[in-house]
Amino acid sequence: MIKKILFVCLGNICRSPAAEAVLLNRLKQKKLENQYEVDSAGTGGWHIGRLADSRMRMAAKQRGIEIESKARQIALSDFTYFDLILTMDDSNLADVNALLKELDTSPKSKIKPLLSYARNTQLIEVPDPYYGGDSGFDQVLDLLEDAIDGLLIEIDKS
Ligand code: 4NP
Repeated sequence: MIKKILFVCLGNICRSPAAEAVLLNRLKQKKLENQYEVDSAGTGGWHIGRLADSRMRMAAKQRGIEIESKARQIALSDFTYFDLILTMDDSNLADVNALLKELDTSPKSKIKPLLSYARNTQLIEVPDPYYGGDSGFDQVLDLLEDAIDGLLIEIDKS
């Protein structure tokens, strides 16, 4: 069965498109891309249709990861489509859970903080790099790579 995973942040131009690209890159390395559908979305809609932030794309490219997705906003239909919705910070988690209350059928998705899968950090939130310096983008990628490796290990066990 194809596993469907959606990453969610605020703007869908920094953290969640990077998470999507990191997972796609890992899946390609493992020749597992046909077994997954991966997407990302923002809780906000300000950047709909835009490519990811150029600073995020550049930092990812330096690790051999291309971020190609365009921003979209999370929709109610995502809750009945994706198996797993992974949020970047507590505010995303609260916003996603608030939206979920509007769903009038039962959801398919499990909703979890992405860093619950991380193994090498005490952080429970992926910091928003948008207003920070360039090093923030590398820190985000380190956290995403750690958590996504942990996620794949957990999925492998299940
Ligand atoms: P993201 O970062 O949630 O990781 O995509 C942000 C991008 C844009 C804004 C905030 C966070 N913004 O306020 O426009």
